[in-house]
Amino acid sequence: MKLWGGRFTKPTNQLVEEYTASISFDQKLWRQDIVGSSAHVAMLGKCGILPMDEVSLILNGLKKVKDKIEHGQVTFLVSHEDIHMNIEKMLIEEIGPVGGKLHTGRSRNDQVALDMHLYLREKLMEIIQLAYYLQDALLEQAEKHLDTVMPGYTHLQRAQPVLFGYHLMAYVSMLGRDIERLQQCWHRVNILPLGAGALAGTTFPIDREFVASMLQFDDIYLNSMDAVSDRDFIVEFLADASLLMTHLSRICEEMVIWSSQEFSFIELDDAFCTGSSIMPQKKNPDVAELVRGKTGRVYGNLVGLLTVLKGLPLAYNKDMQEDKEGMFDTVATLHGALALLTPMIQTMQVKSDRMREAVTKDFSNATDLADYLVTKNIPFRQAHEIVGKAVLYCIEQQKYLLDLSMEEFKEFSPLIEEDVYHALDIDTVVNARNVLGGTARVQVEKQIAAYRERQVPSQEWIKQNSQKVMVESLVDIGSGVKRASL
Ligand code: ARG
Repeated sequence: MKLWGGRFTKPTNQLVEEYTASISFDQKLWRQDIVGSSAHVAMLGKCGILPMDEVSLILNGLKKVKDKIEHGQVTFLVSHEDIHMNIEKMLIEEIGPVGGKLHTGRSRNDQVALDMHLYLREKLMEIIQLAYYLQDALLEQAEKHLDTVMPGYTHLQRAQPVLFGYHLMAYVSMLGRDIERLQQCWHRVNILPLGAGALAGTTFPIDREFVASMLQFDDIYLNSMDAVSDRDFIVEFLADASLLMTHLSRICEEMVIWSSQEFSFIELDDAFCTGSSIMPQKKNPDVAELVRGKTGRVYGNLVGLLTVLKGLPLAYNKDMQEDKEGMFDTVATLHGALALLTPMIQTMQVKSDRMREAVTKDFSNATDLADYLVTKNIPFRQAHEIVGKAVLYCIEQQKYLLDLSMEEFKEFSPLIEEDVYHALDIDTVVNARNVLGGTARVQVEKQIAAYRERQVPSQEWIKQNSQKVMVESLVDIGSGVKRASL
């Protein structure tokens, strides 16, 4: 018998049952569902909607269901459609018809919304923490490489020398924005939808503030139609996740390039690479490639949900059941990527000599020769032309700028003097960019210090709000009864 079977005259078609069921994937929400139900029934008791002895019975029944699920003693049934009705059925089996009172003043529409808020609130916190660890690993490597010079690129052509630490700080900055966005998203996730009923509120004198405080929500949906129709918080998470994956994918692409024999700028640790079944010499950066590849599914999940929502009339529609798998998948994908990239970056070997060699054997100090001429009062455009000619001459002569003799330099401009050799020296070139945001060592040190400073409130935020996601301890069955009877 279905929980909603009363108005039906026939059993559900088998294919319909399978097609509409979500239990195969929403069973992931069983903890959230039980925690939410416990808070709900405790509130029903507190408000005098159910007598306290029945509330106790239901709370104890929910605890038994929880223990059974924890010990793998239950089978979720497709015939009970979803996690909500599976658990309600189990409760009724456990304690009898009184279990049927749990759903008083509640709908699956606000129930499922609550479960999703609780789930994402917890996972989002884990992801924020993992993103923070990755940022920390990048900061540590940046701190170690304040003297490591490498070519900076545009169009993947050598452009101007930079510090390796400076290059990494670009990723630290991206992750800083990602963490900020996820924290803002967390606050929009941490809003209570329960109490919305099916769409219009409920006839029972419920206390939503009480539920919100038990479940540690910072806010309550004001409009119940919005509460049950809103999946913006998931879209927002998927969008933030997409941008985060874009950043991870870009750093992974660089790790793939840098670890190639052609570049040989880094060597990834053996523990984070894999081999080939045919070519014995191979060591492949599979993890970096997979993070890059899995970025596609994260984008897909975002576009998928946006598309599900775009044509829906208010309020709940079954289409919304499609919000789950993509969200679960994105949570798992982010988890995997962040958890692996952190140790990969911590353990990568940086080949500083190779990087420096790459800079000395190229023309990435050409801009500096032009800037040098500008200091001799030659207009930049003219200086650019002169240096272009000097570079062309060097290419023909198979030389680099620093190989030119004073006589050769004078051919291009009589204003060039001995001090040009110092001006074009790689370390001079890097440290000459001593402006806010530049690659000079002192500037990179400032950037690192600024991000280290920002980590303090960020950690503080995580510490403060992490307590809120641990609802299980807050709504343990005993305290539920105690608070309800207050
Ligand atoms: N399994 C459903 C979902 O995930 C739960 C809500 C069902 N509500 C309804 N009115 N059919 O969306």
